[in-house]
Amino acid sequence: MKAAGEAKADGQITPAETKAAIDAGKVLVIDVRDTRDEWVEGSVQASLGTLAFKADASMADFKDPAIADYPKSDPVIVTCALGGQAAIGAGILKDFGFENVKIMDGGMKAWKEAGLVCSTEYDWGSFSLAGKSAIVTGAASGIGKAIATLYAKKGADTYVLDLSEESAVAAAAEIAAETGGKVTGFACNVSKEDEVNAAFAKVLAKCNNKLDILVNNAGIAHVGTVLTTEGADMDRLYSVNVRGVFHCIQAGVKAMIPNKGGNIINLASIGSIFGIKERFAYGMTKGAVLTMTYATATDHVKDGIRSNCIAPARVHTPFVEGFLSRSFPGDPEGKAAKFKELSVYQPMARMGQPREVAAMALYLAADESAFCTGQCYSVDGGVEKCFDAVRPEV
Ligand SMILES: NC(=O)c1ccc[n+]([C@@H]2O[C@H](COP(=O)([O-])OP(=O)(O)OC[C@H]3O[C@@H](n4cnc5c(N)ncnc54)[C@H](O)[C@@H]3O)[C@@H](O)[C@H]2O)c1
Repeated sequence: MKAAGEAKADGQITPAETKAAIDAGKVLVIDVRDTRDEWVEGSVQASLGTLAFKADASMADFKDPAIADYPKSDPVIVTCALGGQAAIGAGILKDFGFENVKIMDGGMKAWKEAGLVCSTEYDWGSFSLAGKSAIVTGAASGIGKAIATLYAKKGADTYVLDLSEESAVAAAAEIAAETGGKVTGFACNVSKEDEVNAAFAKVLAKCNNKLDILVNNAGIAHVGTVLTTEGADMDRLYSVNVRGVFHCIQAGVKAMIPNKGGNIINLASIGSIFGIKERFAYGMTKGAVLTMTYATATDHVKDGIRSNCIAPARVHTPFVEGFLSRSFPGDPEGKAAKFKELSVYQPMARMGQPREVAAMALYLAADESAFCTGQCYSVDGGVEKCFDAVRPEV
């Protein structure tokens, strides 16, 4: 059996000849680079990885109908940066049965040297989410709200999902007013599969079935060791932080597969990576978030779906404020001392800000991170790796 790409191309063609063929309207130009800052006007983009993955599949399943539906006997020209990748891409296309596949000699470098005009696909470094749609669960508060706000600011149609219709709609209206973005709120208790499916169906109806980004942020916490944690605590934490994430990943992947791509970002925790004092049940769930992230990335890389997670240390959100107020009623000094203790846990001697976690969620959602999948990114003021750092006295 031949390896993908083993078949030989049908020769080379100069950039000037390519341009003449395009102008005559009788050729399909395919750019096989995985990252494309500039390209031949009118060419079809097909990453080499996508082509290789599809080498054994029927062409009808290929991402771009411009390639799948193109007559196999009509001419094709393949280009890339310098010409080398084009040879591999051309070989794969020959394996698919294309009969007349030429390589553009010297790739895009030669195209530019010949004074031919390039189009620019993406404003690299802009971290733009324009044209994308994003679901953020638990986005009525804290980190989720900061992520939804930044996504809306960067141009994504953003869907805020949270426990009640009232909180989701109010947060969406607030974010829309702040950013000028298109933001919609829906009720969705992530621990309930039927609610997740209903909310995703509403989002899909609004975004033309094109869900690009899913952030699984909704989560709850619990304080306790194995001795002070009860079975009911385990079930409650599991139902939101594990089952809830599972329900949403499943609904998200089902929605993304037909589009041959998507991006899933899960909120893990430093408690996913090592033991945090008195976080037995919480750590159990966040460890599962980490491994669900890896499993999804592994199973669905072939579908163009990326899956990553973020592991924050303590972040100053309403959740932390609520914990402090409940723990120190009528005791502002006790509350302040605990706040300081929680802050100096981080080597940077402060808690993170929700917007600092949102910045990582933006990177992972944007095309700038296109080569990242199956990873956990810490946003932790040095907790994980600056083990030996000196902290201020409490
Ligand atoms: N704040 C931190 O220090 C910290 C650190 C590491 C990880 N995290 C993780 O980040 C995420 C967000 O934390 P936060 O501090 O912003 O919390 P938060 O309590 O401020 O906000 C969580 C949001 O999730 C919603 N929510 C809770 N249960 C839900 C459910 N079943 N269905 C839908 N929505 C639900 C809440 O209504 C709330 O709006 C969580 O997954 C948390 O575990 C937080």
